Amino acid sequence: MSVPSRLVVTGGSGFIGSNFIRWYLRAHPQSTAVNLDKLTYAGRGENLAELQRDPRYRLVVADISDRGAVQDALAGADAIVNFAAETHVDRSIQDAGAFWRTNVLGLLTLMEVIRDLRPARCVHISTDEVYGSLPAGSAAEDGRLLPNSPYAASKAAGDLLIRSFMQTHGVGVIIVRPSNNFGPYQFPEKFIPLCITNLIEGRRVPVYGDGRQIRDWLYVDDCCEAIDMILAQGEEGTVYNVSPGNERENMSVVQDILARMHRSESDIEWVRDRPGHDRRYSTRSDRVRMLGWTPKTSFGEGLDQTIRWYQTNEAWWRPLRDKAFQDYYRRQYVPG
Ligand code: NAD
Ligand code: TYD
Repeated sequence: MSVPSRLVVTGGSGFIGSNFIRWYLRAHPQSTAVNLDKLTYAGRGENLAELQRDPRYRLVVADISDRGAVQDALAGADAIVNFAAETHVDRSIQDAGAFWRTNVLGLLTLMEVIRDLRPARCVHISTDEVYGSLPAGSAAEDGRLLPNSPYAASKAAGDLLIRSFMQTHGVGVIIVRPSNNFGPYQFPEKFIPLCITNLIEGRRVPVYGDGRQIRDWLYVDDCCEAIDMILAQGEEGTVYNVSPGNERENMSVVQDILARMHRSESDIEWVRDRPGHDRRYSTRSDRVRMLGWTPKTSFGEGLDQTIRWYQTNEAWWRPLRDKAFQDYYRRQYVPG
């Protein structure tokens, strides 16, 4: 398949989805994108404000569980990329209901519509968290699914649901499993934007447990490029990990942020660890690299750009740290 010309994106007003739509329409000026998004607390119409008057872009505010809305959006489309999900591990620990409703039952509705309408290309965004915590080594795409958090379990369940639709109904789907993304427009509950916005507000950064957990940080533009390549060239029915090989301990990430923002380790607040906290995520991404993908942004460059973005876009994130956010914060963070 070549580049699709009429794309449907679900969950496109969240962090990665909005960056992807911007990326896709810039890279493919002849293509159009319909974005179906429920606009939960994590989805913001303003993430794509500059496209509001672009005739190539249309936002449909709807739930992926709304069969009629999904059918209408998909009619005439030649491809779909599904980003729609509940995504924050800590919220899944507080209450997993919405995670199963969207990441599994919502996905079921989406898959039924896909089964009936058969768009030429279907890409589902999963996560490296489905492989669970790896003390050593890196998971390839055929690695065992051993999810530990309710979020990761709901994503793994989604991947298995898709597998069943491929085996049973002959639907061709590509599953993408990226590592932890960071960059502009990430909701400030996630680790890197939380650290940056807390420091701008004069607060300390909350670090869980001993701060030695490892994540493989992927700059969001590099993730978007990988998804774009997989959409155009990936093999149907295949899983693609996407990871840059930027494994870092959380403490090292915090130290990099503190140094760039001219702060010291006295600005760290050690807080109670996340229950079931995965120690290390690590994947091999040979398959996407075989398509020609390589990450272009080093961790340091990505962090510089991200800090600068949050420093110059306070109007975007300040309203997100509202009363509901503060209530969540108080429930979540207890001194360690
Ligand atoms: P996000 O939380 O920023 O955005 C999720 C989007 O989905 C929001 O716009 C939200 O409104 C929408 N949404 C939620 N429930 C919906 C529903 N029922 N119907 C329609 N829309 C709904 O998430 P993100 O960080 O951009 O992640 C996007 C995808 O990538 C998710 O599937 C996530 O599991 C996966 N992923 C994320 C990361 C990461 O580091 N952020 C890493 C690997 C994989
Ligand atoms: P997060 O951004 O929530 O991503 P995930 O849990 O999906 O990997 O967290 C990244 C890492 O940072 C993870 O090891 C948990 C840790 N963390 C903290 O130490 N403090 C925090 O306030 C948050 C949100 C995360």
